[in-house]
Amino acid sequence: MRYLSIGTGTEISRIGLGTWQFGSREWGYGESYAGAQARAIVRRALELGVTLFDTAEIYGFGRSERILGEALGEDRESAFIATKILPVLPLAPVVEQRAVASARRLKTRRLDLYQVHQPNPVVRDGTIMRGMRTLQQVGLVGEVGVSNYSLDRWRAAEQALGSRVLSNQVRYSLVARAPERDQIPYAESADRVVIAYSPLGQGLLSGRYHRGSRPVNRVRAGNPLFLPENLERAAGLIDVLREVADAHGATPAQVALAWVIRSPAVVAIPGASSVEQLESNVAAASIELTGDQAQALSDASDRFRPITGPSALPRLVRARFGQGR
Ligand SMILES: NC(=O)c1ccc[n+]([C@@H]2O[C@H](COP(=O)([O-])OP(=O)(O)OC[C@H]3O[C@@H](n4cnc5c(N)ncnc54)[C@H](OP(=O)(O)O)[C@@H]3O)[C@@H](O)[C@H]2O)c1
Repeated sequence: MRYLSIGTGTEISRIGLGTWQFGSREWGYGESYAGAQARAIVRRALELGVTLFDTAEIYGFGRSERILGEALGEDRESAFIATKILPVLPLAPVVEQRAVASARRLKTRRLDLYQVHQPNPVVRDGTIMRGMRTLQQVGLVGEVGVSNYSLDRWRAAEQALGSRVLSNQVRYSLVARAPERDQIPYAESADRVVIAYSPLGQGLLSGRYHRGSRPVNRVRAGNPLFLPENLERAAGLIDVLREVADAHGATPAQVALAWVIRSPAVVAIPGASSVEQLESNVAAASIELTGDQAQALSDASDRFRPITGPSALPRLVRARFGQGR
């Protein structure tokens, strides 16, 4: 495993583990996953040197935090726990109380990274950051982070906090490139971190799904990337992933992750539906892409033009109700 050295007590692994899947109905992995498998995934991740574990109070309405806390058990000190608050009512006392509730579910006295899950569209960050500052002062929170923030709002949050907001967790992968515009350059120049979520495009970049075999759960039924037409359009990108993967004796998913973390300021938090996937994702940390390979992947990604936005909506409805396109 490779780690970031940016002055956090426990160093952050370049590949972490996303745990939205733990106990949340929308992924549909069922009770044996939430019970035994999720625990086995966390235990194996610890063995393999993963330190970054990402969860949120909203995942499974607290269940993901509980499963993670239980699974970490006595090894909690080896982990860098990142959780998130949904800022519905972003008042300082509310933030403080919600952090305590998250810490209790996670069985910990310290949230290593406490992230604002999404920018509140109405209320600016002064009040929430006041709560965060108090939480840092009393030691319940180590680092403050944000998620789904523009660069401007990230920097405004830092001004409001009066110190670094360590990370911005954003969607970043070969099928979601927006953070390259300014968030990643900022992280690189200011010793901040971009935490890439959905780094495998929710499984699309594994190359496992195609028109005749689409995933069925609610998360992906609502994701335009998995429209039959978009799966067809992604074929060229998957072909390039396979070519590069062959050159490394790796899988397309591993190459997709290696591409995401090619910037030293980016870490990835893939979710996993099995211990085998977790093991494969961790191994991606040691794949070094050549400049030409990274460029070929970026070019293939540029050529991928999925149907998105309003024109995807009627297609999603039709696909959901079994009428193909
Ligand atoms: N901050 C936010 O707003 C936000 C939003 C979304 C996610 N997140 C965080 O980011 C984490 C990851 O994002 P995500 O779960 O949306 O997407 P992802 O990590 O891109 O995709 C995860 C899915 O890909 C498949 N997969 C994983 N490893 C694989 C491998 N080695 N080979 C083949 N398939 C593999 C699995 O699904 P199948 O096996 O079922 O195909 C798995 O559930 C979440 O758990 C969560 O912690 C945060």
